[in-house]
Amino acid sequence: MYCPLGVFASRLNFKNRLFLMGGKRLYLNISIYILSLFLSMALSVTAIEAKITGPCVNCHTMHNSQNGTHMISYLAPGETDTSPKQLLVRGTCLGCHGRNTGDNVDPVTGTPQVLHTNATDLAGGNFAYITTPAKRVTADQNSAGHNVIDLGAAYNETVLTDAPGRYHGSTVSNTQLTCSGNNGCHGWRAFGSSGSGLKSLKGAHHKNVDGKCDTATENYNSYRFLRAVKGLEITGTYKWQNYNANNHNEYFGATTPMNIVCASSCHYTATDIRPANQTISGFCATCHGNFHSIAGIGGDTLSPFTRHPTDIVIKDSGEYAVANRAYNHLSPVGRTIVYDAPSSGVTVSDVVTCLSCHAAHATPYADILKWDYTTMVAGGGGSGGCFTCHTTKDDTP
Ligand code: HEC
Ligand code: HEC
Ligand code: HEC
Ligand code: HEC
Ligand code: HEC
Repeated sequence: MYCPLGVFASRLNFKNRLFLMGGKRLYLNISIYILSLFLSMALSVTAIEAKITGPCVNCHTMHNSQNGTHMISYLAPGETDTSPKQLLVRGTCLGCHGRNTGDNVDPVTGTPQVLHTNATDLAGGNFAYITTPAKRVTADQNSAGHNVIDLGAAYNETVLTDAPGRYHGSTVSNTQLTCSGNNGCHGWRAFGSSGSGLKSLKGAHHKNVDGKCDTATENYNSYRFLRAVKGLEITGTYKWQNYNANNHNEYFGATTPMNIVCASSCHYTATDIRPANQTISGFCATCHGNFHSIAGIGGDTLSPFTRHPTDIVIKDSGEYAVANRAYNHLSPVGRTIVYDAPSSGVTVSDVVTCLSCHAAHATPYADILKWDYTTMVAGGGGSGGCFTCHTTKDDTP
């Protein structure tokens, strides 16, 4: 947190301590100290949290050499490549973000971890469910997550060879899927020109907009560097986590899914791939288009559907009535405006999103679901998962 007034006040305080020892002057000293505390507290409330902080050397190396040895200090499990990296950083995406230690946020650099051994996962899930059989409920490492190639060849997807539900003939294959760029999810995605890895995120880390991302024109001001996606990133104690009904990210949704027609409303332009409707479900649809488009769900936003709808309003009647639903951080609803702060309430305009059922990275469960589908039994009691919205389907007859 950068706090110029606070720093100024504590400097003053330091200076005073040199000149004014003891006696009446001590009061002045203490009161200036308290004033400085108040100032820094007041400022810390309004200041935008985080972005990148800390010594350059924590993350960068100028020549990748010190005392004749390389300076690549962040290596993910199985990574051995210590050659220099683009933008002079000291690791790859997974090197910094997937260190597989007990920390879910790196204590030195503040890097959120997407592959770790901590009991608490961050909101996207944990790629360790793919790499560590003992951690998952599903037997299948394919099904537990997006098997990004960064995890190593042993973890490549072997069942699916492309994105199911793809609208275009071919999107990204199982041997190409990666964190960012042309063949990934984060950052600038454009066929042939944005590359993969760090190049596709250039500038985003230092400019990162935290909290409310309702501009979403560039990587840095989009939700989690997902280009053009709007949303609210949780800040504070539970930063990076969907912790409970009061502390979670807020997902942006729409009241009607897109009709993907490439002449008019397409996710693709010659130089940019981005969800035209700026929703999180529209983002998933950049690769899984038919699971989200109007045509794909049955032609309109009314039942009967042909695929489970997303980006449609949850009716305020019958089992879906708002009065029956509570916000469930494991089956979250989307909002049609970007909220200023997480809300534990649900409203009549809330919508279904892909993330109402799936996580983005990996989970213990089949199909990257946020819960075990085998436990969703009609008439069998239970709660959460499907029953978060289908509130009467668990009722015992
Ligand atoms: C906590 C990690 C971290 C620290 C500390 C850090 N950087 Fe970076 N920096 C990154 C990452 C990651 C990238 C590459 C990805 C990107 O640009 O989003 C980057 C990219 C850059 C770039 C190229 C893109 C841009 O934003 O212009 C410059 C220049 C840069 N850093 C300079 C610095 C300087 C100077 C310092 C110290 C004052 C510093 N960085 C400290 C992580 C860090
Ligand atoms: C040198 C270490 C380093 C490297 C390399 C790095 N990151 Fe990061 N990344 C960070 C840090 C530190 C943060 C936390 C910044 C903050 O608190 O705002 C971060 C934050 C993020 C975020 C969350 C942004 C948000 O919305 O707040 C995403 C997404 C991300 N990085 C993706 C990537 C991808 C993809 C790559 C590879 C192309 C990558 N990072 C490479 C250190 C790194
Ligand atoms: C860059 C393209 C891309 C984007 C964007 C994308 N996916 Fe995928 N997805 C794939 C590919 C490729 C596969 C198959 C390979 C794999 O599963 O590792 C896949 C597989 C899946 C699977 C099946 C996993 C399995 O192996 O059974 C689910 C579920 C899924 N995606 C959900 C989502 C959701 C939800 C989103 C949005 C948060 C999303 N995807 C965004 C490319 C993408
Ligand atoms: C976030 C809320 C939400 C969750 C979670 C949810 N659904 Fe739905 N579901 C809906 C809404 C809204 C509709 C559309 C109802 C309407 O407009 O008639 C729907 C419709 C359906 C339909 C009927 C489709 C039709 O043609 O009318 C089925 C079947 C269904 N859901 C099954 C499930 C199952 C199984 C799960 C768990 C895997 C699940 N849903 C989870 C909100 C949800
Ligand atoms: C209501 C809960 C729910 C919602 C919402 C939902 N899914 Fe699924 N998804 C499932 C379930 C359950 C499966 C398991 C297969 C099945 O039942 O069809 C699945 C399977 C998948 C698969 C794997 C298909 C395969 O062939 O292995 C992909 C990919 C996928 N979903 C993507 C998405 C995307 C993208 C969205 C948003 C546009 C989405 N899902 C919305 C529940 C949901």
